[in-house]
Amino acid sequence: MSKSKLTAQCAAALIMSLASLAGGADQPASVAATAPAKATPPEPPPHFALCSACHPISADGANAMGPNLRGVFGRRAGALSGFAYSAAMRKSELQWTRETLHAYLRNPAATVPGNMMAYGGLSDAADRDLIIDYLEQLK
Ligand code: HEC
Repeated sequence: MSKSKLTAQCAAALIMSLASLAGGADQPASVAATAPAKATPPEPPPHFALCSACHPISADGANAMGPNLRGVFGRRAGALSGFAYSAAMRKSELQWTRETLHAYLRNPAATVPGNMMAYGGLSDAADRDLIIDYLEQLK
């Protein structure tokens, strides 16, 4: 058997197994309806490691040194009831959109003067974009 034929067979086998993993046609409809495949959780970008030192993202909403960031995208600033925000954050009247998150993560102290997030800021816009994409996926 030629090498390329073998490769083609391998590719076919791989496609078949991927199709069955994705819940292919051979799965009974009732199983597909009652047990939808659980989406894999989004991968945090490298720069999120530092954020994680202060911010939990757990689904139970627990806070730590910083407020829980699950669902922060679209939320009003300083809105979690279980976290003792600074008055500056509570009164900022910001809503966390792509624009406000870019501004805050680039320069927290200038964007919300008097806020207590001890983080100097992330100057690279592309790195901030990756973090914001990630936050947007944390529902
Ligand atoms: C040293 C700890 C620390 C680090 C590191 C840190 N934060 Fe924070 N963060 C805080 C604290 C504390 C607050 C609350 C600030 C306040 O109330 O003034 C906060 C607030 C926030 C808020 C507003 C949350 C809300 O509910 O309104 C966002 C968004 C946020 N941080 C994102 C990030 C991201 C993204 C990173 C990483 C790039 C990061 N933080 C790094 C401590 C930290």
